[in-house]
Amino acid sequence: MIPQQVIATKRDGGKLAPGEFALFLTAYLKGQVADEQMAAFLMAVQFNGLSTRELDVLVKVMLHSGRVIQPGGDWPGPRVDKHSTGGVGDKVSLVVAPLAAEMGMVVPMMSGRGLGHTGGTLDKLESIPGFETRISLARFDRVLRKVGCAMIGQTDEIAPLDRRLYALRDVTATVPSIPLITASIMSKKLAEGLDGLVLDVKVGRGAFMASVEDARALARAMAGVGAARGIAVAAVLTAMDQPLGSAIGNALEVREAVACLEGGGPERFRALCVELAAEMALAGGLVSSLGEGRSRAEGALAGGGGMERFERLVAAQGGKLDPARGDLGLPSAPLFKTVSADRDGCVSGIDPLALGYGLISLGGGRKSQDDEVDPRVGFVMKVEIGTRVAPGDPIGVVHAGSVDGLARGVRVLGEAVTISDEDGASPLPGVLERIRSPG
Ligand code: URA
Repeated sequence: MIPQQVIATKRDGGKLAPGEFALFLTAYLKGQVADEQMAAFLMAVQFNGLSTRELDVLVKVMLHSGRVIQPGGDWPGPRVDKHSTGGVGDKVSLVVAPLAAEMGMVVPMMSGRGLGHTGGTLDKLESIPGFETRISLARFDRVLRKVGCAMIGQTDEIAPLDRRLYALRDVTATVPSIPLITASIMSKKLAEGLDGLVLDVKVGRGAFMASVEDARALARAMAGVGAARGIAVAAVLTAMDQPLGSAIGNALEVREAVACLEGGGPERFRALCVELAAEMALAGGLVSSLGEGRSRAEGALAGGGGMERFERLVAAQGGKLDPARGDLGLPSAPLFKTVSADRDGCVSGIDPLALGYGLISLGGGRKSQDDEVDPRVGFVMKVEIGTRVAPGDPIGVVHAGSVDGLARGVRVLGEAVTISDEDGASPLPGVLERIRSPG
């Protein structure tokens, strides 16, 4: 196998022989194919895609690059996970994992870091002082048995090829590709030994799939991979035409997730958490209808059981959260500034892509693979699409680590919000479509 020949074949729109493609991928893991060669290959896939057969090879090699947990075993409930294709302000996993555990599911959640302009669950969790996301599989298993949910990243033990490719795609603008997203998500999920899987496929300007058609194609590709391996998959197409909830930024999003677990938080965010937890219960066979799933999820939130699970999860993975303190003991930015409306009108747009890149420019995401993330910085929106404002009304607050960052953040936030004369702008519905495969 000659790496540059493999890259050239994909660059020119050709098809790779399965054996040669598998050798290229395993050689990369062994350090025999360089990062720059893999980056060029990923860009060729970004433009020319993968055939069904090539996608199958990619999923298999990624899945078997680490250990694969077999379904079954003596678990107290169905093993079910939820994974998002990535959005801005998407902190759903922090709520849904403990909530689903409280409802009686076992949630072995393997997440990622920020990817492209979107945030990552691991970065959010690591804003909690002491929280360890790099734990051994043995400890992961112990946390899962004790708490009912556990949250880790790709490791050397499980899905290591995804860990390498994910970090490379993050900084080479090779994220929004249907086969690359499919292989990345499904290789991790197939390794978890699941009974059911819920995919939150984001649609809109803040998502990797801007149109419903592309999001549908991605959902079908992932559901197909799951069905071929006997896992019940529910893909839910959800809105990402504006940030999800109010908070964008790692520690800020943990605070919003806790507010939701305590019974508050933005309404649309809370409703989506309930919906996805209900879908998980259905996919895992815990309930026989979505309605039943919703009422169990609402009950687990209202009774405080979801929050109690979250606290136990944080403690079991070494984190220190202080619910008695207003800031929960999470790091806070030294500088903040409210941005106000400069005119009268109705908010007709909030650009999630601009805010996602804005967060990176504040230091809350990565520009290169080795960057440290500043957990303190971000934005807290005070308006949604459809909110009426008058001059001087707050539209959002910037949290920054430096004077320069604050000025940049104020500019980004001001430009991200469009105020129009006409009333009646409305966001996309929270849930746009559902695609299910029985497994
Ligand atoms: N989440 C993942 O795990 N991988 C992707 O490629 C996109 C979202």
